[in-house]
Amino acid sequence: MRRPMVAGNWKMHGSKATNQALLAEVERSVRPDWPIDVVVFPPYVYLADAVRELEEGRILVGAQDVCAESGGAFTGQVGAAMLKDVGCTYVIVGHSERRRWYHEDDTLVARKFAAAMAGGLKPVLCVGETLEEREAKQTESVVARQVEAVINMLGVGGFADAVLAYEPVWAIGTGRTATPEQAQAVHAFLRSRIGAHDAKIAGHLRILYGGSVKAGNAAELLAMPDVDGGLVGGASLSADEFRQICAAASAVRH
Ligand code: PGA
Repeated sequence: MRRPMVAGNWKMHGSKATNQALLAEVERSVRPDWPIDVVVFPPYVYLADAVRELEEGRILVGAQDVCAESGGAFTGQVGAAMLKDVGCTYVIVGHSERRRWYHEDDTLVARKFAAAMAGGLKPVLCVGETLEEREAKQTESVVARQVEAVINMLGVGGFADAVLAYEPVWAIGTGRTATPEQAQAVHAFLRSRIGAHDAKIAGHLRILYGGSVKAGNAAELLAMPDVDGGLVGGASLSADEFRQICAAASAVRH
C-alpha cells in the first residue's frame, strides 16, 4: 500500500503575514490521524519560517527548486545541503514552469535530482506533456523521456526514495484538469515504465497528479488506482480547499 501524499506548491505567492495565517490554519485543520503525508513548498525565503511554524513536524516542508551544484561560486543559487540545513525534507525538480521559463532541460533536471539526493532531500520529479504534444499523441514518449533522463544518470534506484508527479502542462493553472481516466492512463504507463527496470521500486513509488486539482475534483482523481496523491498549486493557497483535498486523500486506500 502506498501512503497518499498531498503537496502544496505555493509558487511565487505569499508574504510573512499570509504564510503564517495559512500555515496555522492548515496545521489546525489537517487532522493528525489522517494517514497521509502533507508537504508544503513555500518560496525559498520563507522556508525557515515555515519549518518553525510547523514545528510539530506533522506537516513537512519542501523547496520548489534546487541548484544542480553542491556549493561554490554560483551567485543566486541555493544548494540541497542548505535546504536540508533549514529543515526541508523534499524538493520539487523539473516543474514545467522551470522547464519553460528557465529553460531547464532533462539533463539539468536529472542533475538537480541527483544533487537533491546527495544533499539528503527527497526529490519530487515533475513530468508532463504540453497540449501540442498531447494532440500529437506524444504524451507517453515525452514523459518516458523525462523519467529515463533520471534513470540514465542514477539508475532506477534513484526512484526508491523519490516521488513522481504527472503534471500535464495544459492543466496547470488553467482550471482544465485531466479526467481521472486520462490521469490514470499516464500514471499506469509511468509505473509500468519504471517497473520494467524494477518492479518493487515501481510498486512502492508514489505518483502524484498535478494540474488544477481542487476540492471539487480531488476525490475522483485520487480514487484512481495509480494516483497516489496530488501536487496542488492554486488550491494550496486556500486553507479550506487544501484541507478538503487532504481529507479526500485520507479516504483513499490503494
Ligand atoms: P495548479 O498548479 O494546481 O495551480 O494547476 C499545479 C502545479 O503547478 O504544481
